[in-house]
Amino acid sequence: MKSEPSKTHHRLALIPGDGIGVDVTNAAVDVLEHVARGRFTFETVTFPWSCAYYSAHGKMMPDDGIETLSGFDAIFLGAVGWPKAVPDSVSLHGLLLPIRKAFNQYANIRPHRLLAGVEGPLKAKSFDILCIRENTEGEYSGAGGRVHQGRDNEVATELAIFTKKGVERIIRFGFEQARSRRKHLTSVTKSNAQKYSMVFWDEVTSEVARDYPDVTVSHMHIDAMAAKMVMAPQDLDVIVASNLFGDILTDLGAAIQGGLGFAASANICPDRSGPSMFEPVHGSAPDIAGTGIANPIAAIWSAAMMLDHLGEADAAAAILAAVEETTASGIGIRPGGHSTSEIARAVIAALPDQA
Ligand code: IPM
Ligand code: MN
Repeated sequence: MKSEPSKTHHRLALIPGDGIGVDVTNAAVDVLEHVARGRFTFETVTFPWSCAYYSAHGKMMPDDGIETLSGFDAIFLGAVGWPKAVPDSVSLHGLLLPIRKAFNQYANIRPHRLLAGVEGPLKAKSFDILCIRENTEGEYSGAGGRVHQGRDNEVATELAIFTKKGVERIIRFGFEQARSRRKHLTSVTKSNAQKYSMVFWDEVTSEVARDYPDVTVSHMHIDAMAAKMVMAPQDLDVIVASNLFGDILTDLGAAIQGGLGFAASANICPDRSGPSMFEPVHGSAPDIAGTGIANPIAAIWSAAMMLDHLGEADAAAAILAAVEETTASGIGIRPGGHSTSEIARAVIAALPDQA
């Protein structure tokens, strides 16, 4: 049964960013315009914050950038990074990472499954993994420093910080996701080697697990999980991992789902005290920037996740169905096989007409 169209209005902040981020954002917005018809209305404000902006202004975004973004219902980001002009450590710490932290987007959600028609490198075809990555602390806490710089006795520290609140809420978020899926959660740590933070993580997981007796729990070490994702991905459902471990596993997840062109992500602020941010995992891809062959599917899928978050579940499902119809017909499944705009047009053509 079709639900009543909500006709809600959504205000979206677009940060196309660098390289192919611009192309895939345009493609995703084209799809949004079509899927919105008869369902909801939206407006976009585009912010040119990027490495080019840095070259002109000496910063990645204006000082009141976060305040500006706080007025939107959601943020859509293409990609950040142009290392020839701005070191990655500067550009990412000037835009992407502060946004994740400022809006408490502590849950980074990344789905890994094969879209129809996409082969992927593995024999196993029927996996469907949802990776939940802690997104505001852990190894990305930003605490640390360098002393005696440039001398023989130079010291560099990078402190991984795990707080009770931070770990508990991401584990709880993972359990909620598992509950709405196949009811299995795997917590990923390295508690055999890291005896403080990761043992703490394991303890918090076991504590939270008591509230979810309907969900089965496994504990795995990151190294074993890397192997498992290749050897038996079909046995996995929801994975919860720390910031860095989740970062690494989700590139592996992207690889097993056929490549970064298919890897979508959502940076969610679950309590909705600020906007959530949606972005493809692939980055700015300087090697193919400007060639018009970037695959927009990861961005379009991320846009569908954004609609889901905004309460437009029907529209989100329509986009995903159209994406799968597109890939099933062989469009967008091989690098460079179709242009960005050809793929976006195919997705739009596959969208059902709305009255
Ligand atoms: C990602 C990216 C970022 C991260 C980089 C660009 C800082 O790799 O979103 O996976 O590590 O979070
Ligand atoms: Mn990454």
